[in-house]
Amino acid sequence: MITENISLKKYNTFGLNVRADRMVSFKGEENAARFFRQNRDLMQNSLVLGGGSNILFVQDFHGTVIHPVMDEIALEEKKSDYVRISAGAGLEWDRLVEMTVSYGFGGLENLSLVPGLVGGAPVQNIGAYGAEVKDCIEKVRAIDLNDGEVREFTNSECRFSYRDSIFKQDFKGRFLITKVFFRLSTKPRLSLEYGMLKEEISKFGSNSLGNVRKAVISIRQSKLPDPAVTGNAGSFFKNPFVDEAAVKELKLKFPKLPVFREPSGTIKLAAGWLIEQCGWKGKRIGDAGVHERQALVLINHGNASGKEIWLLSEEIRKSVYDKFGINLVREVEIVGTT
Ligand code: EPU
Repeated sequence: MITENISLKKYNTFGLNVRADRMVSFKGEENAARFFRQNRDLMQNSLVLGGGSNILFVQDFHGTVIHPVMDEIALEEKKSDYVRISAGAGLEWDRLVEMTVSYGFGGLENLSLVPGLVGGAPVQNIGAYGAEVKDCIEKVRAIDLNDGEVREFTNSECRFSYRDSIFKQDFKGRFLITKVFFRLSTKPRLSLEYGMLKEEISKFGSNSLGNVRKAVISIRQSKLPDPAVTGNAGSFFKNPFVDEAAVKELKLKFPKLPVFREPSGTIKLAAGWLIEQCGWKGKRIGDAGVHERQALVLINHGNASGKEIWLLSEEIRKSVYDKFGINLVREVEIVGTT
């Protein structure tokens, strides 16, 4: 289905009222592939937009927005200790998590309530509360926008890393993901190591998949703004990685600096802490603001423009750099010229 001159307000979680020249929605893979083959001119300037939960439009989009609506779920295979499930790119992410948890399939429960659609999950390798979606993805099916060819990417071909994949790098903007295949456990081992998760789950009773989901939802709701109420795109920046020498130096000046050492040996800092130390938590410039309970989340108090939110993010980057010498990198994708 093609709609011309469409408002993207309900297609981006910042709630920005930007417009696109046209939007094409696809329910079937075949239709999408044919459309791409027959409309190469329209694909020259195109943007795949799922739930719009990790995007900041700084101006109208003069091109074709491609929106997946395929939302089927299928049980592909069931073995004694695992299942293989496929889900359409247009399915709301949390509906998939809810369903897999209700069937007792483990792997996605820590990713409860992450906003967005299934198709976006592999693009930025969504992660929360000690889990990353890459650990459950078996393969990703996608259509090349250039020629309509269908291609499948194995887990290693997706080149997943922290909030990153091939779909944000070499193949940025080139594929429409149509389906994601997950391998989930029927004998789940719960992952409760992150922060206050253990404490929170005890409020709900025993350690079960359902209670992990409840605990994660409860923590998220207490910290993160609901995009349906307050425009935001979750963490605006990535947490920075540093080396041991940098930690040593920073600790001399900032003894309270939280440092997270990962099993792989990498050292992560909390961007939210750095931003808070610069005095930004709860601040606002016009309608663009920093969330009062999580400084890593930028919010639209109502009528901020994308440009205003971007300008605020630049101010934040500048002050974090001036104070700590650390260059914050945006997690949110910027669309348009700033
Ligand atoms: N912190 C502060 N002040 C703040 C925010 C955080 O001091 O305002 C410090 C605290 O020391 C806290 C630490 O930062 O212990 C970590 O905070 P939190 O657990 O809230 O996690 P985060 O690192 O800020 C990351 C993800 C979130 C994910 C949570 C939970 C990134 C960029 N963000 O945030 O993901 O939900 O962990 O796992 O890695 C998203 O990507 O959109 C997102 C919300």
